[in-house]
Amino acid sequence: MSHPSIIAPSLLAGDHANLAVSARNVADSGAHWLHCDIMDGHFVPNLTFGPETLAAVRRAGSELFLDTHLMLVEPQKYIEAFAKAGSGLISIHIEPTYDHRGTLARIRQLGCQCGIALNPDTPAASIEALIGEVDLVLVMTVQPGFGGQPFRRDMLSKIREIDHWRNTRDLKFRLEVDGGIDLATAVECRSAGADTFVAGTSFFKASDKTSFTATIARL
Ligand code: DX5
Ligand code: ZN
Repeated sequence: MSHPSIIAPSLLAGDHANLAVSARNVADSGAHWLHCDIMDGHFVPNLTFGPETLAAVRRAGSELFLDTHLMLVEPQKYIEAFAKAGSGLISIHIEPTYDHRGTLARIRQLGCQCGIALNPDTPAASIEALIGEVDLVLVMTVQPGFGGQPFRRDMLSKIREIDHWRNTRDLKFRLEVDGGIDLATAVECRSAGADTFVAGTSFFKASDKTSFTATIARL
């Protein structure tokens, strides 16, 4: 049994001079999650925002569930700050070298759910040993770093593989896809087993965000 579909619009595609307004647009659409892309200019060749931005969005009144995606070489140094800023879930990448298992446990100790993320060129097998310890697996469907890239259809088999592990091992983690997700690619990902859909460009460009959110929620 898979989870009901959830859309997590990405703040990265919002208006960076008015992020509280962008968060309000997300909540007004009927979405409950807000995906926050944190980049350090090392793990990915781009920079975004930090914990103070998340805290400011909270102070401005947003009650959205903050789905924080750390694209950092040393995520273990920042999880406390992102937990304090109001994250509900923090995902860390498998690719850099650090204590993944210990960092996931620490995220839970801080009262957040934890996720493990993997890049398109990283095989599913690299996270297999950790899937019993996470609330979410984040499959990157583009090379992380920038919004607005085309969906990598070759990631569908990886999604199917991870969904198969989940079913055969009776695990309950959510399976999130991130990058190039729109109404059409979300349908393909849902068929492959995904249940949590990050949408940046497609959400903020949608003229009717309520209908966009409702369509994903019905998948
Ligand atoms: C890419 C980020 C994504 C990004 C998705 O590095 O992790 O979350 O915001 O943006 P779109 O939906 O525009 O591909
Ligand atoms: Zn992301």
